Amino acid sequence: MEERGQWRSNIGFLLAAIGSAVGLGNIWRFPYVAYENGGGAFLIPYLVALITAGIPILMLEFALGHKKVASAPKAFRIIDERWEWLGWWAVSFVMFGIVMYYIVVIGWCVNYVFFSLTRAWGEDPNGFFFGRFLGVSSGVWDLKGFRLPVVLAVAAVWFVNWFITFKGIEKGIEKAVKVMMPVLFGLTVVVIVWSLFLKGAGAGVQHYVTPDIDKIFHKEVWIAAYGQIFFSLSLGFGIMIAYASYLPRRANIFKNALIVGFTNSFYEVFAGFGVFSILGYMALKQNVALQEVVSSGIGLAFVAYPKAISLLPFGQMFGVLFFFLLTIAGISSSISIIEAFTAAYLDKFAGSRRKIITRICVVGFFGSLLFTTHAGLFWLDIVDHFLNQYGLITVGIVEAIIIGWMYRTDKLKVHIVSQLGLTGRRHKVFDYVVLRLWMYCIRFVTPVALGIAIVNSLLQEFAKPYEGYPVSGILVLGVGWILVTHLFAFGLAGLPWQKKHEAIRDVVEE
Ligand code: ALA
Repeated sequence: MEERGQWRSNIGFLLAAIGSAVGLGNIWRFPYVAYENGGGAFLIPYLVALITAGIPILMLEFALGHKKVASAPKAFRIIDERWEWLGWWAVSFVMFGIVMYYIVVIGWCVNYVFFSLTRAWGEDPNGFFFGRFLGVSSGVWDLKGFRLPVVLAVAAVWFVNWFITFKGIEKGIEKAVKVMMPVLFGLTVVVIVWSLFLKGAGAGVQHYVTPDIDKIFHKEVWIAAYGQIFFSLSLGFGIMIAYASYLPRRANIFKNALIVGFTNSFYEVFAGFGVFSILGYMALKQNVALQEVVSSGIGLAFVAYPKAISLLPFGQMFGVLFFFLLTIAGISSSISIIEAFTAAYLDKFAGSRRKIITRICVVGFFGSLLFTTHAGLFWLDIVDHFLNQYGLITVGIVEAIIIGWMYRTDKLKVHIVSQLGLTGRRHKVFDYVVLRLWMYCIRFVTPVALGIAIVNSLLQEFAKPYEGYPVSGILVLGVGWILVTHLFAFGLAGLPWQKKHEAIRDVVEE
């Protein structure tokens, strides 16, 4: 049987975990969500969400994976056999859902690296993106066929993902993130500083940070903040549990969780300055109000940015850097999703890592094809909404309840403290103040906050179909995806464990 992988160094682990967290969600999703939800005022609920749910759940996932040396299904099974399905569900809807369309969006970025060279969108980036490039059809069921440029890029991105993960933890993922992350941070600084020096940037930034204080009394703003933190920190994906399981026995879980949590948030808040500088520049150039150049998530990256690239001096170069940066941010996240499923599979069924990686990448590629038809954009939008809103948040709530109420957070607390080697007064302060707060968050604040978020989302769902899509599309692609991945998870949880692993039934909890 192959040995379980391990990070060569803590910095390797940190880069991989930050790589997983920093992704497409940080660069174009965050700035727009922040803008919609009160600009500077959004930072208040956002920080509250980071501190009451983001960092606590991240610490929980790190501590669980590290203590049990296990991927999500195995870790939950050790706690109680009945919860194995939860781990399988997390890694399944992420592997056979989120990553399939996530890689399609990375594929769009790859195409746009090349389009930037010639500013292929000409005078009409909007018509180009939805028309010539995606060829968006009349509706969810009007598939028409595949978009070849997207299919080719998706194949290439899957190949890169396969190539990195195939080589394992240390020689594959760790080596890759050690190159990708410094490049990503370097490019981000270049792009943002470039943006900040543009004419009109100041007005854009002012729009971004000016607080619309009234907004923080709206519950939607709070729901958006919790949703953003979950997706952005890759929580509820099963990723952070698997990644922490590859840490050596002695590791500072507490410090690692703070570093990953704050770096990810710092990155997205910082990215917001770049995005809004660009929007300010465009508003000035086109002599229109800033509100007119802002468009929603997808439009922001693939319509507003190309517009800016057309106006900028050395725009082509800016475009290549920006879309390359998005591509790297995306790949460092997609490899972590593939790893979360692989770790789960190998923990239960053993076998060859290389074979399973190859198989799931092939299946993943065919799954991605579903999102490369002329109706792909609609499919992506529906599946993304349901898996994020109900998948990740549900996993977060159940995780907090299982650990907070059934398994008891104190066991993980003891594990976190034992890793720090603190003594005397410092130990007491840490134990009583910091970790006690963490336990209260996991037991009360996090499940209640996430519970309110999910109930409100459900009420909205019943009030009107999401984005006005036909009910058939919502039922098949949204609800259907959730049900099918659930059945799949129950199926995997029901299969027998390989002989060697059966010993985990007898693990005695201290
Ligand atoms: N955490 C990843 C992102 O923000 C999935 O895109």
